[in-house]
Amino acid sequence: MQTAHLTIDPAFRVAPVRRRTFGAFVEHLGRCVYEGIYEPGHPRADDDGFRRDVLDLTRELGVTTVRYPGGNFVSGYRWEDGIGPKSRRPRRLDLAWHSTETNEVGVDEFMRWCRKAGVEPMMAVNLGTRGIAEALDLLEYCNHPSGTALSDLRVANGAKEPHDIRMWCLGNEMDGPWQTGHKTAREYGRLAAETGRAMRVLDRDLELVACGSSGSGMPTFGAWEATVLEETYDVVDYVSCHAYYEEKNGDLGSFLACSTDMEYFIRSVVATADHVGARLKSRKRIDISFDEWNIWYMSRFQAAEPPADWPVAPPLLEDHYHLADAVAFGGLLITLLRNSDRVTAASLAQLVNVIAPIMTEPGGRAWRQTTFHPFAQASRHAAGDVLRVEPVSPSYETAEYGEVPLLHAVATRSDAGVTVFAVNRSTDAPLSLEIGARALGGARITAATTLTDDDVYARNTADDPDRIGPRANPDVEHDPMRVLLPPVSWNVIHLA
Ligand code: AHR
Repeated sequence: MQTAHLTIDPAFRVAPVRRRTFGAFVEHLGRCVYEGIYEPGHPRADDDGFRRDVLDLTRELGVTTVRYPGGNFVSGYRWEDGIGPKSRRPRRLDLAWHSTETNEVGVDEFMRWCRKAGVEPMMAVNLGTRGIAEALDLLEYCNHPSGTALSDLRVANGAKEPHDIRMWCLGNEMDGPWQTGHKTAREYGRLAAETGRAMRVLDRDLELVACGSSGSGMPTFGAWEATVLEETYDVVDYVSCHAYYEEKNGDLGSFLACSTDMEYFIRSVVATADHVGARLKSRKRIDISFDEWNIWYMSRFQAAEPPADWPVAPPLLEDHYHLADAVAFGGLLITLLRNSDRVTAASLAQLVNVIAPIMTEPGGRAWRQTTFHPFAQASRHAAGDVLRVEPVSPSYETAEYGEVPLLHAVATRSDAGVTVFAVNRSTDAPLSLEIGARALGGARITAATTLTDDDVYARNTADDPDRIGPRANPDVEHDPMRVLLPPVSWNVIHLA
């Protein structure tokens, strides 16, 4: 039996747990909005047409912020199409997803949904086909109290109080050639700086996010962040990171280690941002908004033909996650938490149906995918401070990342106790985890759950929605504290 150790010491504090780490993303893409959060004809729809079953699951998931309305979609979006009487809203071609957008849901509906879900909105402006003027118009519509054309229009549309949106993304993935209005780093940096500066004149207390790279493998990675931040350093608060992972060529070992890339991504962006800050002689610190992350079988999507006839809300990017996906996903969550000193916001992409923890049938059931569980557990139990745990672990060889530790872990500590989040990346063997907590004096394990299965490719479905879920871990010893982590498992261990 292989053994790994970790040490809990309140002195190893990284940062407070950032509630915004548990953000998600709702894009006008596929069935995320329509048949996802919104389906007026559904038996469980409320008066606004929102699905109550999805609202319940969103709350259970513990989502804190929701990014909207895209994604690639935002780079061709005209926000004013989605306000006012629904019968007068235009249908438009959405070039990003080759679909037809009906505009039945727009900013006012989204804000109503956010209030019902109890989440903070994070709004993106279109810097692909549009620019400063339209971003200012949207901001005025949303945040200005009243007494101007656009704020009074919001009031007339039923939203008396300003939406008061604090976090704003200046465009989306502008480094990607697939993006409508794709730009060079210098072109985008200047536009983002000019837009952000003007937006701050309208509303001083905004938190602004500049687009970073769409992945650490982008040819411009590193140089993109440096140039964009040279232009925007004094204007923005965050630079974004986006990353998606999938199991390739049956290489499960590498896949379970994909958080290695996320760690590298974060370290590189922090170094780049700090380097730009030093060159500009600035004392300001730029944080990371990891505002798209997930498991996504993108290669399958890329191999498929785009929809031919501009359908409304076609099923797109509907990945059905298995246990191994949930464990790799849990590893990514651990990495986000471990880096809470600089990753102070994040958005799981996305929330419903589209590479999502929640799935729905049109007119029918909603259920939790396997990835729902690590997210919900982390959001519920990560509290207080994030602690480094100094793991000592046996390692294994991966084709993609070289030698990687079998154990990936982090802990948080609050008045309620300590919670350890741990992944065993081994594809075939349990790992005995010993927990040293001398600094806590008399700490004991009060509960331990594990998410695992004999079949690493087992999934939840509408007919079998609880096939994969956290179960009590029976293999716990108290003195010394030891927990047996099954192969390919996500684990949550509570200490009092
Ligand atoms: O989340 C799906 C897509 O992935 C988003 O629209 C885009 O920003 C990214 O490429």
